[in-house]
Amino acid sequence: MGDDPGGPIAARSPDAGGAIDSDLTAWVDDLETRHLSDLTFHEVSRALRALSATYVERRETLARGAALSGAGKRAAFALFYGPLHFLLVRHIVESLPDALKAAPTIVDLGCGTGAAGAAWARACEARPEVTGTDRHPWAADEARATYRAFHLRGRAQVGDLVRARWPERSAIVAAYAVNELPPPGRDALLPRLLSHVERGGALLIVEPVAGQAAPWWASWRAALETAGGRADMWRLATALPRIVQKLDRAAGLDHRELTARTLFVAPR
Ligand SMILES: C[S@@+](CC[C@H](N)C(=O)[O-])C[C@H]1O[C@@H](n2cnc3c(N)ncnc32)[C@H](O)[C@@H]1O
Repeated sequence: MGDDPGGPIAARSPDAGGAIDSDLTAWVDDLETRHLSDLTFHEVSRALRALSATYVERRETLARGAALSGAGKRAAFALFYGPLHFLLVRHIVESLPDALKAAPTIVDLGCGTGAAGAAWARACEARPEVTGTDRHPWAADEARATYRAFHLRGRAQVGDLVRARWPERSAIVAAYAVNELPPPGRDALLPRLLSHVERGGALLIVEPVAGQAAPWWASWRAALETAGGRADMWRLATALPRIVQKLDRAAGLDHRELTARTLFVAPR
């Protein structure tokens, strides 16, 4: 795991919590059909290798949008990281106390293809609506397709998450997005999120475990723990959709176990 003990580590056996239900299968099948229509599997797996190097070695380029530059990387992001983030966030919200308490709206900041917000909304019995915000128009289009695939009431808008507005009692998720903000944007966002949780709203921040990827983590963690939140680390061994497994192997990666760390403030 990473360098930060963070809190309890939650893990599950390979077949627990990883149910690949029919909507998830249909979503991934549709992603596969669309994203492999103009690109070969080899092109997408090569792009996945480049994308994962961007996340690991060239993080400074993320704020300039390097991750989603080019059709190959976008396809790799949608087809590979989208389902992985869906599975992880679903496991996380099903495990965190009170995360599934009814909120009328899930707000997904830096929604990408919509995976995190959709996973949270789907796990809630009350099926809240989802509002995604992403600076990338392609991502907003993909998020709309994701909400449709999971039969969710959802909207996705193009915009800067730092300036996004949200309803008072909503549940906000920012998955792998705060890390992509330049420091001034991050500094502007934290007080807004603190004010949201002080008014009873919920908040979930998801990031990779590697400490070097998030030097801001310690101060966010301290601020959100003071506001009644908690920090956790996660490890999930779960069944992956077939195309995700195939891309994982072809790109020389290993996601048989998924990891993340989170900051969470439950709704009040
Ligand atoms: C690594 S992706 C994660 C996407 C999604 N949350 C998920 O878990 O799959 C980060 C996303 O944040 C978006 N993003 C980065 N900075 C942003 C900003 N200032 N405003 C809106 N979106 C932003 C990127 O376009 C990208 O889609």
